[in-house]
Amino acid sequence: MLREFFLFLSHSRSAQAFITGFPPARQMVARFVAGETVGDAIRAIRVLNAEGITATTDFLGESVTNRDEAIRAADQYLCTLDELTRSGCRSHISLKLTQLGLDLDYDFCLRNVRRVVEKAQALGNFVCVDMESTSHTDRTLRLVGELRREFDAIGTVLQAYLYRSEKDLIALTEAGVRIRLCKGAYKEPPDKAFPRKADVDANFIKLSKLLLDRSAPGPNDASGKIPAPAALATHDEKMIAAAKAYAAEKGIPRERFEFQMLYGVRRELQEQLVKEGFAVRAYVPYGTHWYPYFMRRLAERPANVWFFVSNYFRR
Ligand code: FDA
Repeated sequence: MLREFFLFLSHSRSAQAFITGFPPARQMVARFVAGETVGDAIRAIRVLNAEGITATTDFLGESVTNRDEAIRAADQYLCTLDELTRSGCRSHISLKLTQLGLDLDYDFCLRNVRRVVEKAQALGNFVCVDMESTSHTDRTLRLVGELRREFDAIGTVLQAYLYRSEKDLIALTEAGVRIRLCKGAYKEPPDKAFPRKADVDANFIKLSKLLLDRSAPGPNDASGKIPAPAALATHDEKMIAAAKAYAAEKGIPRERFEFQMLYGVRRELQEQLVKEGFAVRAYVPYGTHWYPYFMRRLAERPANVWFFVSNYFRR
């Protein structure tokens, strides 16, 4: 129920106006968002890198309503790529197609994303295209597929809550597309997504195994493919334990997969996995358009709200 409520609020303009002006909310955001500028993101990534955690940086924004905003977002990604290179930070980038104009015009969006991927490839970096709601899934996979034929430096995300994801995973891995598997963060109808969490979890484990089996060879392999570790994006210890056990059982080397988690979530688990010798990548968002991202984080764990509000009033 609370999940639905926060996901509903993530689209509400009046709730956005209220919450973005509400002081405790701004403090809560600081837990999940590295700051407003690329410099803030770099500072956060440096700390993570020093602890052996790599990153993927997201310039916050989605569902833009005019072309200038989309072009500015692409420009900001080019600048982010330059800054990451200059700083020597170990970080990819993550972006959302609706931030680069997908809802305005497919070809316009493709041109914007191509500019970013071209630069990422030239700099030896990598772009992960986040997956949004199911009204965007087909167009996202089509665009990623088109650019993957031109560039190695692009991959995308599949959501275990969708019935279709197993089929998509097979098609994408066959096309050499690097995949991040997550559970899924949007509100979807029962004809598209498993309504029960237990089924989402079971599908995540099933797809993790499939992805581990099919992940492309590591960097030292002579196949000529880009290194494509399977990315398992979850904070759920049961999912992580299942992946570790499966990899051990099948003798899948650790460089063939990595765990990904969100900035500010289960930090101790991230550090523990690094200590155990697993690769960990943190998703580090920055920017001022934090509202929908933040509401999805509350939807995932509504207890966050009481934690923050009680801390605020205790001061
Ligand atoms: P689950 O929700 O079952 O949570 C397991 C445990 O993790 C909780 O009990 C709690 O301890 C902790 N936890 C989880 N979320 C938390 C939060 N917000 N705050 C505090 N604790 C929390 N989704 C999508 O639709 N498209 C995408 O492109 C991406 N990209 C993405 C990248 C990365 C790196 C991650 C980690 C996640 C995404 N997601 C995403 C979000 C994903 O779909 C999912 O909503 C969240 O990861 C929460 O699911 P868990 O797998 O963590 O399990």
